[in-house]
Amino acid sequence: MTEALGEARARGDRSVLLEVFKRNTPAVRLYQKLGFRAQRRLIGYRREPGKLSPGKTGTLTEADPLGVARIVAREGERDLPWMLAAETISAITSPARAYHLDHRAYAVIENPETGPLVLATLIVRQAERRKGWGSRLLHALEAEFPDRPFFVPAIVPEGPVGTFLVELGWEPEPLSQSEMVLKLPQAA
Ligand SMILES: CC(C)(COP(=O)(O)OP(=O)(O)OC[C@H]1O[C@@H](n2cnc3c(N)ncnc32)[C@H](O)[C@@H]1OP(=O)(O)O)[C@@H](O)C(=O)NCCC(=O)NCCS
Repeated sequence: MTEALGEARARGDRSVLLEVFKRNTPAVRLYQKLGFRAQRRLIGYRREPGKLSPGKTGTLTEADPLGVARIVAREGERDLPWMLAAETISAITSPARAYHLDHRAYAVIENPETGPLVLATLIVRQAERRKGWGSRLLHALEAEFPDRPFFVPAIVPEGPVGTFLVELGWEPEPLSQSEMVLKLPQAA
């Protein structure tokens, strides 16, 4: 760590950011000793199949994942963790598939073919929020992939996305991460 931080200082980096599982106390202590400070908690969510209450839905249409990344860049929450940021989403390739509902709500599923479905992105256009489009999209995804659990790794900051998922019957995962940051002094 000392070597890596020395290189970051030499490059003139302004800050170093890391994510660590909160229950990994020895690692958290190490980072604290090096000067890192926790700035937010990142939570994962899961939904078992067949648990969503019936609700309004819609017809899913396939979308271009790169187009979804552009919408995240323009209309996503500010200061998204790097795993959810537009730059990361823009690098997602096949077998991932993206979907939209009426060009208002968008999702990217990282692995549509096997295993618990990883929801890599979920976004509703700003002008369309709180009108039920996010709920319709999740219901439509459930109908598209019946019998498969959905999963978001511990990368979602506490806030509206988590509130929304819980409202729709998703459960927070017991393991959460801490996003820690170290500010590096800038040479005058
Ligand atoms: C989170 C998000 C998907 C919700 O979509 P939406 O279409 O607005 O959600 P819905 O209208 O279906 O809301 C369903 C329920 O979820 C809850 N909810 C939704 N947004 C909420 C918010 N901002 N705060 C608190 N609760 C919220 C409410 O209980 C809501 O029901 P209500 O409106 O009757 O109170 C949307 O706000 C969004 O796209 N945010 C930006 C996400 C982002 O940055 N994505 C990129 C990285 S993943």
